Amino acid sequence: MYKIVFTDPIYPDRAKKIFKKQGILFFPKNKKQLLKETKEADALITLLSYSLDKTRINEMPHLHVVGNYAVGLNNIDLSFCKKRKIKVIHTPKVLTRATAELALTLLMSLARRVPEGIELCKKGEFTGWKPDLLLGKELKGKTAVLFGKGRIGKETAKLFKAVGLKIEWIDRSSSVSEIKTTLKKADVLSIHTPLTPETKHWLNASKFNLLKKEVMIINTARGPLIDEKALISFLKNNPYAGAGLDVYEFEPAIPKELSKLKNTVLLPHIGSATHETREAMADCLFEGVLKALQGKSPWNQWKG
Ligand code: DGY
Repeated sequence: MYKIVFTDPIYPDRAKKIFKKQGILFFPKNKKQLLKETKEADALITLLSYSLDKTRINEMPHLHVVGNYAVGLNNIDLSFCKKRKIKVIHTPKVLTRATAELALTLLMSLARRVPEGIELCKKGEFTGWKPDLLLGKELKGKTAVLFGKGRIGKETAKLFKAVGLKIEWIDRSSSVSEIKTTLKKADVLSIHTPLTPETKHWLNASKFNLLKKEVMIINTARGPLIDEKALISFLKNNPYAGAGLDVYEFEPAIPKELSKLKNTVLLPHIGSATHETREAMADCLFEGVLKALQGKSPWNQWKG
């Protein structure tokens, strides 16, 4: 029997079904219990908001497997896991479509000022049709630059193409001059790359200087990919630009300065939040953790 500790109650019924008689599952109620239970744990199943650093890993001498209920692994000290031969399982593929759909949702909401329209109606301030009421931007024929040509980037590109956007790519292998030339063309800039020490603050003040004054920035990946201070100052100085964000640099904190701006559409990190996707994430994660505990190499094991 494997001892499997959950940092949070992630689909307990689905977990019980998958681990059946092979695992004893623990759902600690507080930090003290969690610390106690993880001392003997064979596997830890956790969320992207739980920072699994060296110190925490060292508190779990029996740990063989970590299951992260996310595709992004920036909350985990991966090189230390590798050193300790701890297998890391995550949830790629199953959340690709949901995240791409949310990127398109953010873009269309921003382009057509949907949150402002909703607010006006809900406050009872819609007083009649006007030629200049909430004029937005059309997407057809404009250029979307996507940073990150992985699964989510490619799926987002398909959806962006469907609304008439022309697609240009930047990835981590693009040269400085390619990045500069491409960024200058962006009517839309959408970010789809993992957060690593190398990509932190990828979109910084010097890149903002290259962007058009009316660019629409979309981020469904990780907040720290953008220097949030530089973003706020760019949006303040360029009211025809805008940002559609699902993630934040110091999540869950959202700076007041950002939420007060009219040219932002803000969502609470719900890229993968559909019933279908969250269930599929749970199933593939639990199945992967079980296989890894049994000495197999599941398809969703991080191979860094
Ligand atoms: C992830 O999986 O990394 C998302 O941010 C949450 O689904």
